[in-house]
Amino acid sequence: MTDDRLPTAIVGAGGYIGQHFARLLADHPWFAPPLLVSGERSEGRTLSEVWQLADPPPDELAGARLVKLGPGEVARRGVRLVFSALPSGVAGGVESELARRGIAVFSNAADHRRDPDVALLVPEVNASRLAAIGRRRGRGLLVTNPNCSAAGLAVALAPIVPVLRPRAVHVSTYQALSGAGFPGVPSLTIADNVVPFIRDEEEKVGAETALLLGGIRGRAVRPWPVPVVAHCARVATRDGNLEAVTVEARRRPPRAAILSAWREFDPLAARGLPTAPSPPVVLRSEPDRPQPLRDRWAGAPARARGMAVSVGRVRWTPPFLRFFLLAHNAVRGGAGGSVLNAELAVHEGRLARDGR
Ligand SMILES: NC(=O)c1ccc[n+]([C@@H]2O[C@H](COP(=O)([O-])OP(=O)(O)OC[C@H]3O[C@@H](n4cnc5c(N)ncnc54)[C@H](OP(=O)(O)O)[C@@H]3O)[C@@H](O)[C@H]2O)c1
Repeated sequence: MTDDRLPTAIVGAGGYIGQHFARLLADHPWFAPPLLVSGERSEGRTLSEVWQLADPPPDELAGARLVKLGPGEVARRGVRLVFSALPSGVAGGVESELARRGIAVFSNAADHRRDPDVALLVPEVNASRLAAIGRRRGRGLLVTNPNCSAAGLAVALAPIVPVLRPRAVHVSTYQALSGAGFPGVPSLTIADNVVPFIRDEEEKVGAETALLLGGIRGRAVRPWPVPVVAHCARVATRDGNLEAVTVEARRRPPRAAILSAWREFDPLAARGLPTAPSPPVVLRSEPDRPQPLRDRWAGAPARARGMAVSVGRVRWTPPFLRFFLLAHNAVRGGAGGSVLNAELAVHEGRLARDGR
């Protein structure tokens, strides 16, 4: 039996997002098991030797060795699609070079998110963005995820924007330690503490949410003209960003119309993308949900675990809608978001599945 799955690689495979990519790609129906490309720290080690996630590494890749390769060597090995888990700063040049060599790059890093020829994409929110971008960087496509808190916020806002026509959005985040990657925040900084500062995060949440919810004129994105104002704090949870959201609304629909907008939201349902959660928003009615510990893995089917955004504690006191949301920073806001972006690109014919 021939394997017509697309040849893939993970760059930055030894890091937190890289390991989530390995978990998601080990037995993917459309993408072949990835080549694992490392930096200095993980070079020559097996995936099991660098593994840090709570669940064990996937059998298919546990013994695979990480190799340090440049963009040219990755291209020479026939890779068609790269999932990038590189740190911001390092990612920009490497990703441009991979795209210039005709490789489709799906990135988690911030470096290219605001480039005009790059799609900043969350498929449930702005799938049409993919068709609007060309292939200016040589032949390769470059697609990025937003910041992990902006990803959850945009999914929760997309269904209710037409119903409420917001005047402003205020959000306070309680962000997990894993958002800082390995080795992360020093234990003596965060134990018994909350740190009300994450560098550049508040600005990213505001600007990237506006780009995701914005429209397109020609090929340019027109940011959503509604202010999205953020406070961001680091808390001592391992995974999952909790966000307290206040929407100031222009419209005053009944509460039931707002809840229905969330419940009926499933824009990818007909596309059959393997990592798309259905539904993408899980509405919780309990008085004390969502919680990071209990809701971070929301999402069905099994391949989409961690991809759903949980919404709860909904309070509608017009003109203010208040709610909490919870999204897994490394899955919905990280590796899972990139895998879903790549699936959408395949579905939209931007990548042939047989490798040609
Ligand atoms: N963590 C999250 O929740 C999250 C969510 C959304 C987006 N992001 C973004 O995702 C990216 C990765 O984050 P992370 O949390 O996974 O960070 P991380 O744990 O620090 O991992 C980064 C990895 O990049 C590798 N690396 C560094 N320089 C390299 C190079 N020149 N070539 C190849 N590999 C290189 C390192 O490899 P070695 O270990 O081999 O040296 C390291 O394992 C960042 O841009 C981050 O902003 C993270």
